[in-house]
Amino acid sequence: MLKNTIDSYGLIARLFHWIIFLMVIGVIMGGDIAADMPAGPGKAVILGLHKSFGFTILVLVVLRLLWRLTNPRPRDLGASRFQNKLGHAMHFFLYILLLSQPTIGILMSQAFGHPVYPFDLFEVPTFVNENIRLGKILLEIHETLWIVLAISVGIHAAAALKHHFIEKNRTLMRMIRGK
Ligand code: HEM
Ligand code: HEM
Repeated sequence: MLKNTIDSYGLIARLFHWIIFLMVIGVIMGGDIAADMPAGPGKAVILGLHKSFGFTILVLVVLRLLWRLTNPRPRDLGASRFQNKLGHAMHFFLYILLLSQPTIGILMSQAFGHPVYPFDLFEVPTFVNENIRLGKILLEIHETLWIVLAISVGIHAAAALKHHFIEKNRTLMRMIRGK
């Protein structure tokens, strides 16, 4: 089934979740590799891919949120109301991070005077003019926020595994198989 029901995640929601998961891992690895490389053609290729996939994550997250708004949300399976609330808060926080990290990346590149061309297909509209001071501040944030994202994903994944192996409920399988 493509759409969610009150009991299951549909195929589209699951594809969004796992494709964005794989892309976030790849983009973090690419960003770290690029940051450690000396300036040159190799770094330009890796950074180009980092920016292109990072931009794609932003587009996918916006589409995912639109899809979420037009779908039922599967019912909570947590052991208590508090646990469910904690889960919602973490999902909300993850969405904020998934939107802000690539947005800051784009604004940072533009502030450093580097327009963003995802996969060399088109230019992302310019939101900020060249401003190296602003670029440096945004770089600091970009270099910090991914660590917050990685830690949050770690906690989120640990919670999913706890549901599966300790509480033995369908939370994880619902995101893998749907039901
Ligand atoms: C979810 C999306 C993104 C994640 C998780 C992410 C993550 C990262 C990470 C981990 C680094 C390395 C930081 C370090 O070593 O301290 C990095 C660097 C960087 N990112 Fe991103 N990024 C994302 C999106 C973007 C986007 C959309 C752009 C621009 C269009 C961008 C531009 C850059 C630039 C210019 C660097 C600096 C590389 C260097 O130091 O030379 N990022 N990013
Ligand atoms: C980059 C990594 C990840 C991100 C950004 C992420 C993000 C999210 C978000 C935003 C939701 C809420 C979905 C919604 O209702 O709109 C969610 C749900 C879920 N995620 Fe992840 N996730 C990641 C990795 C993982 C991993 C590695 C696992 C498993 C080990 C996992 C398991 C789940 C499960 C089971 C749910 C459903 C929770 C429920 O029904 O209450 N996620 N994830």
